[in-house]
Amino acid sequence: MASKIQNFSYLCPHHHNLIIMKKFSFILFCLAFGLFMQSHAEPVKLQSPDGQLELKFEVIGGIPQYSLDRAGKPVVLPSKMGFTLEWRDDLAHAFVLKDTKYSTFDETWEPVWGEEAQIRNHYNEMLVTLEQPIGSVESMDHSTEKKATVMQIRFRLYDDGLGFRYEFPMFSDELGVGSEEYSEKTPYSTLHTPNSLTYFWIKEELTEFAMTGDHTAWWIPGDLDTQEFNFTQSRLSQIRDLWEASHKDGGWPWTGFSPTGVQTALQMKTDDGLYLNIHEAATLDYPTMHLDLDDKNLVFRAFLSPDATGYKGRLQAPCTSPWRTVMVTTSATDALASRLILNLNEPCALEDVSWIHPVKYMGVWWEMISGKSSWAYTNDFPSVKLGETDYAHATPNGTHGANNANVRRYIDFAAANGFDALLIEGWNIGWEDWYAKQKDFVFDFLTPYPDFDLPALNKYAHEKGIRLIMHHESSASTQNYERWMEQAYTLMNQYGYDAVKGGYVGTIIPFGEGHYSQPINNHYHYAIVEAAKHHIMVNSHEAVRPTGLCRTWPNMIGNESAMGTEFRERINPGHTTILPFTRLQGGPMDYTPGIFETDMGKIVPWGQKMKITICNQLGLYVTFYSPLQMAADFPEHYAQFMDAFQFIKDVAVDWDKSLYLMAEPGDYIVTARHPKLSTLNKAAEGVGTLRDGKKGVVSNATKFVYALPEDATAEDLKNAQPHDVWYVGGITDENAREVTVKLDFLKPGTKYEATIYADAKDASGIPDEHYNAQAYTITKKTVTNKSTLKLRMAPCGGFAVSLRSK
Ligand code: NOJ
Ligand code: CA
Repeated sequence: MASKIQNFSYLCPHHHNLIIMKKFSFILFCLAFGLFMQSHAEPVKLQSPDGQLELKFEVIGGIPQYSLDRAGKPVVLPSKMGFTLEWRDDLAHAFVLKDTKYSTFDETWEPVWGEEAQIRNHYNEMLVTLEQPIGSVESMDHSTEKKATVMQIRFRLYDDGLGFRYEFPMFSDELGVGSEEYSEKTPYSTLHTPNSLTYFWIKEELTEFAMTGDHTAWWIPGDLDTQEFNFTQSRLSQIRDLWEASHKDGGWPWTGFSPTGVQTALQMKTDDGLYLNIHEAATLDYPTMHLDLDDKNLVFRAFLSPDATGYKGRLQAPCTSPWRTVMVTTSATDALASRLILNLNEPCALEDVSWIHPVKYMGVWWEMISGKSSWAYTNDFPSVKLGETDYAHATPNGTHGANNANVRRYIDFAAANGFDALLIEGWNIGWEDWYAKQKDFVFDFLTPYPDFDLPALNKYAHEKGIRLIMHHESSASTQNYERWMEQAYTLMNQYGYDAVKGGYVGTIIPFGEGHYSQPINNHYHYAIVEAAKHHIMVNSHEAVRPTGLCRTWPNMIGNESAMGTEFRERINPGHTTILPFTRLQGGPMDYTPGIFETDMGKIVPWGQKMKITICNQLGLYVTFYSPLQMAADFPEHYAQFMDAFQFIKDVAVDWDKSLYLMAEPGDYIVTARHPKLSTLNKAAEGVGTLRDGKKGVVSNATKFVYALPEDATAEDLKNAQPHDVWYVGGITDENAREVTVKLDFLKPGTKYEATIYADAKDASGIPDEHYNAQAYTITKKTVTNKSTLKLRMAPCGGFAVSLRSK
């Protein structure tokens, strides 16, 4: 303290600067009221329901700080909290702890779709109220002179981790309805003292996560525009040296912000074998949080995505920040089983969810990704002006994938194989100059190309029991998309589309915004909310990484927001063993698995070999959770391997139970799942409710669970009994592995038929002279809950097993 006062006495004599005087009087004030005595106060504490995790919170020298222990050992060292703000003193000093309230919560809720039918939300909570007293801080408009500033921090401690968020109440006192002073005649204004913090702009969020050691981390570089990267596994101290290289093979555009910046969800492992994961939950009306590592001290600090003007959130009380989360588990499988992020989100906001259903789909898509076909209809126009360009007289380029005949071919195949839906990209005008042109009016989302008969194709699909999935690539022109959104969703309603795949490729328009700033996060949310009004399910690509909002808005059935199958040979082995720990913590991913022609060179001359095997692709349908699951390859490729394709047909996509049997990020995952009967045939039933929809469709997973023949009808289903069914999937990185799976989760005393899809002995997904990615064996066996299965996975391989009670 003394040195601070000396500093001021050094500055003050010559300049009677008001601000300095104010600071000086603030220090005297603090001394008088003993505010700095806070550092000697006992920290307030909170324990997790099982007593293993302990959170400590204290205000030291006016600065809020938290720390986290597990079983008495530190997990997060004392870490500062707060904000720097524009136009007023920061929320970073002069705080006093005014109040601490405790509560406990234990409820079980049922997600509309998910990895299990019921999720327990059990935590202990501590709400601390912090105040910057009147006169202790300054503001440009002097609003703090007569009012205190109040900020609360709500901590929730679960057995598997911590969530905390900042809350900014409208009033700084606790009076109000229900308090002793309250009477109905008391004017509201006399009961409440407004918080000095009402409208405020964030310059930086100061939240820290101080690590206890140089942990191993699985990270992608911090970036304000893309999340499409391979993961790098390294010690925290190596991030700086590897940061540049970590961009190799990644998405575009790159907007890094620090050579030690990384994205969340960040998975780490300590040398003691603890699994830590830092992420956020319920990011709404707020920028996305990245992490910037101080690699000398191993302290992460929040780095919020700035908006076009550089601010990191413009807030208006009452409001809250998103939850900051630290998941702590003693095993990798427990990390996969954690529902921390979903639990911290609000319950479902929709009253009627009957229109939401899981979807297994195919697409006129891989043709374009592989280079075989084009999204564009013509090569006539170097520049397209929607409304002016004359497509009716344009020369078709002969490679347009979304043409009537080709779409019908896919519909036929998808219908014959019991799929729910078909995505078609490149159906609408504008694809000739959609990419990287920074063009505002890039699509209208309404006008089909001349060779795409939208009404007729929908009718054709519905008559066969298939829904078409709409595609809205915004080309990152969010403002253009918002202009057309209402009409675009109305068009979907008119023709019976109930799901849309969105896209945000390229530089965001309005210019200057990044993909994860507050205004653009608000755009993604707006698209979800507006879609819900139209009973439309949304799967956005390149949108912000999810933070569990699908609990509140379950029409958000998918997202990409990470490197998916479209990166083909650029995807590193083991990538899919990391995503469930990181990207998938916030919600399902439309990873688009199911590639059977693994050598892209067979499709186009420049194609290369993907680091996968067919069985690795099958394993993904179980290890990766998504209620929206694609079979991404061409019909003609599946036609060559119909016996392996059977697993994709049989597998369900919504579950009442999931068991994470073995896992290690970057190495392998083995998962078992039990289908949820109530949603098994929901997509098919929905088609039957359409005017032109085929009634009584039975999806393939339904046929598998009820042991019905391929040509089964709804009548057969009515009279059939479900069998007990499990699916087990495994995936590995570049190392071959043998795993022993105990089937002790099966019903005792029951015999099951196991169908085992395994890599052949000489299979390999490593693109060298031994590449042999399509070699597999399929065996059937009778098993019980006493049986074990020995399963070998080839390099870059995997396995899949379906189990059905006899
Ligand atoms: C990128 C998406 O991830 C991909 O799936 C899509 O095909 C293209 N954008 C075009 O919209
Ligand atoms: Ca993408």
